[in-house]
Amino acid sequence: MRIGVLTGGGDCPGLNPAIRGIVMRALTFGDDLVGLRQGWKGLREGLTTPLTIDLVDPIISQGGTILESSRTNPIKDEESIQLCLDNARQLGLEALIALGGEDTLGGAHGLCARGLNCVGVPKTIDNDLSATDYTFGFHSAVSVAVDAADRLKDTARSHGRVMVLEVMGRHAGWVALHTGVCAGADWILIPEVPLKLDELIDHMRALRARGKAWGLVVVSEGVKRPAREAVAKHAKDEFGHEKLGGIAEFIAAEIEKGSGTDTRVVALGHVVRGGPPTPFDRWLATRVGIKAVELAHEGKFDHMAALRGTQIVGAPLEQAVGQLKTVPLELYEEVKTLFNQ
Ligand code: F6P
Repeated sequence: MRIGVLTGGGDCPGLNPAIRGIVMRALTFGDDLVGLRQGWKGLREGLTTPLTIDLVDPIISQGGTILESSRTNPIKDEESIQLCLDNARQLGLEALIALGGEDTLGGAHGLCARGLNCVGVPKTIDNDLSATDYTFGFHSAVSVAVDAADRLKDTARSHGRVMVLEVMGRHAGWVALHTGVCAGADWILIPEVPLKLDELIDHMRALRARGKAWGLVVVSEGVKRPAREAVAKHAKDEFGHEKLGGIAEFIAAEIEKGSGTDTRVVALGHVVRGGPPTPFDRWLATRVGIKAVELAHEGKFDHMAALRGTQIVGAPLEQAVGQLKTVPLELYEEVKTLFNQ
């Protein structure tokens, strides 16, 4: 089979192990592989690169993606769709494996409807894809964030300060929730739960009253300020996403004003997207890579390789991209019982 491979959207640790898994499994079938550079842009503009065993052999421990990435929407208009279909035909692709999150896999699903044989591999640090238990990248991102949070607690304790740590995650609070629990944060703010400043400040005051003069608050970048606070509008990408970030500054100022504790802000941003994938992510990425090739050979297009428990199964792309997997309120409430001390 002649198979194209691309990585789209925000990069994450685990993409290289997944590419390696794909190439190594495809070679056992005698497949011919073509790398497409910079996500869907590579297909739209015919940017190819070889994918050989020698190239992928050493990359299991490397962050980023050797195929590069971009936030290109292949189905943004008819011209873009036609360019993608024409290039796929010219390259002789019998299948295309797209590694990505909601946007990239939405593109794969849209192109499948136009006759391109796509298979998906789910990835994102945000962990917000439905139809799979976890996405690779998430575990690595949380590991980096927890390490940062532990360090911040050391210095917060020394100086009697509250550290407000902002982490990525877009409209899902998974990274913030896991980071906050694993670092023993005093409060966690996620986009799924409307911001209640009074509750947060009362809690920080109560901590002071019981003699704890320092603290850690983890906030997800997607948390919205109260409606009365004007926020500048940022430029949007091809999928209509606004650039997020900056909420921690607002939260820190409110904590300082309301509780009188000195506060500092750290926004981790893209730091959590780089560095070596954790063993869990290498394992998961390798397995979904292997499965994607098998799905292509079974003719199970318009599907992605998904984690269900300990099994890797084929799941329809439609299920994955239909609705974001956000943090259930019951889970947040469960975690919040820790903050009642
Ligand atoms: O989807 C992954 C993610 O890292 C989000 O958590 C974040 O909001 C966004 O990508 C940042 O995108 P960019 O890399 O385009 O700045």
